[in-house]
Amino acid sequence: MSSVVSHQRVLSGMRPTGKLHLGHYHGVIKNWIKLQHEYECFLFAADWHALTTHYDDPSLIEQATWDMVIDWLAAGINPGSATLFIQSKVPEHAELHLLLSMMTPLGWLERVPSYKDQQEKLKEKDLATYGFLGYPLLQSADILIYRAGLVPVGADQVAHVEMTRELARRFNHLYGREPGYEEAIDAAIKKMGKKAAKLYTSLRKKYQEKGDDEALETAKALVGDQQNIPLSDKERLFGSLEGGGKVILPEPQALLTESAKMPGLDGAKMSKSYNNTISLREEPEEVERKIRTMPTDPARVRLTDPGDPQKCPVWQLHQVYSDEKTRVWIQEGCKSAGIGCLECKKPVINAIQEELAPIRQRAVEYEKDPELVKSIVLEGCDQAREEAKHTLEEVKSAMGLSYR
Ligand code: TRP
Ligand code: SF4
Repeated sequence: MSSVVSHQRVLSGMRPTGKLHLGHYHGVIKNWIKLQHEYECFLFAADWHALTTHYDDPSLIEQATWDMVIDWLAAGINPGSATLFIQSKVPEHAELHLLLSMMTPLGWLERVPSYKDQQEKLKEKDLATYGFLGYPLLQSADILIYRAGLVPVGADQVAHVEMTRELARRFNHLYGREPGYEEAIDAAIKKMGKKAAKLYTSLRKKYQEKGDDEALETAKALVGDQQNIPLSDKERLFGSLEGGGKVILPEPQALLTESAKMPGLDGAKMSKSYNNTISLREEPEEVERKIRTMPTDPARVRLTDPGDPQKCPVWQLHQVYSDEKTRVWIQEGCKSAGIGCLECKKPVINAIQEELAPIRQRAVEYEKDPELVKSIVLEGCDQAREEAKHTLEEVKSAMGLSYR
């Protein structure tokens, strides 16, 4: 993985909701595609999370998962760069979820804003379940089981990552102190070799005595770069920097996806539940039809009526797809009734067709070869499990359950 420039691992998941649309593409997938070149990425279909709200009708989850994975691949997620897998195929997530549940204060879960919000929003469903309350805890297990450093999420998920950080801290505090801790640290420092050991000790001092954050970062990088010492020693070294015990579960950071909301066909946020989407596999004729029939500024009844782009959902699409020159042309043409709405829509239609053509074509290839898709995911699941098992072993051992 030569293109990976950072040691940090990225993890993210998406609930399988079926075929993806342009909102997913501009809001999430494009960001994943960028990240896969910069980091080691683990990306998965959160099918258990889908069950927390769709336990009464699970029949769609499996197909939705395959459709979603096909769209990831078609959009440009590269299984050579990112590990793609299905949550329920890595049962270690569930075991960690259970273990974490022992030390998770109920109040933390009840306080997560999405808990009450979603219950309010999805009133027709009975979400007073154990599983739904545990939704953010399961998400924490998803993240912590890979010791991910960065978690790209939308604003609505930041609270979940925040809770994950608190849990990691609590876990390390409860279980990160082993007997003979000081001796273990000293031994680990020695293993780095004389030069690095000296540097580590002085950086640690600088941070602990003078609060020098840069020294902390440098020391972390130094530990991260050590090739020849076991992971358990690395964790001790990380832990000792900040004066705590061993860092068994590192704290992840949310990577807020800063994309503008992708507007839907009616100007509201593009979302399946608003029925205002263009899917990534939409046929060209459908794309054309959907844009042509989009509502415009209601003031423009006749071609000779001037309009205001500010009041028109088509204008919002131009902000995603059009360059400055086109936008000036529209502003002027709309306000002076110099252009017609169909004329105005044309560049958006063209831009979307151009964006979707290669995606649609690749999706067709994958649709024709479901075995290929399955083997990609199977391989991803195997890789993910390797990592997950490793973390789980350490967690169990810290919690007194190793039975060796
Ligand atoms: N809850 C996330 C969502 O609805 C999906 C998800 C599940 C997730 N587990 C995760 C995202 C772990 C990031 C990390 O979008
Ligand atoms: Fe909207 Fe363009 Fe018509 Fe103006 S000209 S109302 S911006 S579609």
